Amino acid sequence: MTRREQIKNAYKMTGGQANFYDGMMTYSTVLGKAICRIVWNMDGKKNLQYLEKALSGIPENYVGKLLEVPVGTGVLTMPVYRDLPDADITCLDYSEKMMESAEKKAEAAGIKNITFLQGDVSALPFDSGSFDIVVSLNGFHAFPDKEAAYRETYRVLKPGGIFCGCFYVQVGHKRTDWFIRHLYEPAGFFTPPYETEDSLRKRLSGMYREADVTAVEGIGCFCCRK
Ligand SMILES: C[S@@+](CC[C@H](N)C(=O)[O-])C[C@H]1O[C@@H](n2cnc3c(N)ncnc32)[C@H](O)[C@@H]1O
Repeated sequence: MTRREQIKNAYKMTGGQANFYDGMMTYSTVLGKAICRIVWNMDGKKNLQYLEKALSGIPENYVGKLLEVPVGTGVLTMPVYRDLPDADITCLDYSEKMMESAEKKAEAAGIKNITFLQGDVSALPFDSGSFDIVVSLNGFHAFPDKEAAYRETYRVLKPGGIFCGCFYVQVGHKRTDWFIRHLYEPAGFFTPPYETEDSLRKRLSGMYREADVTAVEGIGCFCCRK
């Protein structure tokens, strides 16, 4: 199954019954679609585009050690992991409640090769160089200690390993910036300071041997090699 089909499957997995969060992340409910368009200036095509970029570091038929942090409800990644039965996957999140939902999805999809762990990205409970791939979707704009998160995700990667994912970057779209500042930040979903596409490129290029950074509206997507 191609990556595009896997992502589309994530949309189908939630369908009309998706809860508010999953529906928004997968552009699959009426309210979710409205939020994507109004807040993020994204239609289904742009949603697919940013997710493909963010997940581009995971090869098809991947068999190595992968860490995802934060996994959240797992809505975007469980359909990908379903097609990686030989990979050794660890999913970590601060919120047990969010992760409970990811565990249910894994169980429903018959995925057996994932270890779920409650934890903090700023103090990852792993030895240095433990993983071949670290995936981080929509986490860095929420993490309170971003410097520690950059440090830790780098530390647990093996030399030559891949760090890929995405998160909100400011100045990508004015309306998005307004909503973040006036709604998402006061509600505690997002925590400043934020990167711009340029500052993220500069930061990751300074840390990693290779760093590919592109933004789709207000979402910065990256794929780096240590
Ligand atoms: C917007 S959600 C993203 C979830 C998922 N990756 C996605 O794209 O749907 C942000 C997640 O970050 C988690 N989180 C926030 N601070 C964290 C921390 N310090 N360590 C680990 N996870 C954290 C939250 O619990 C939440 O599940």
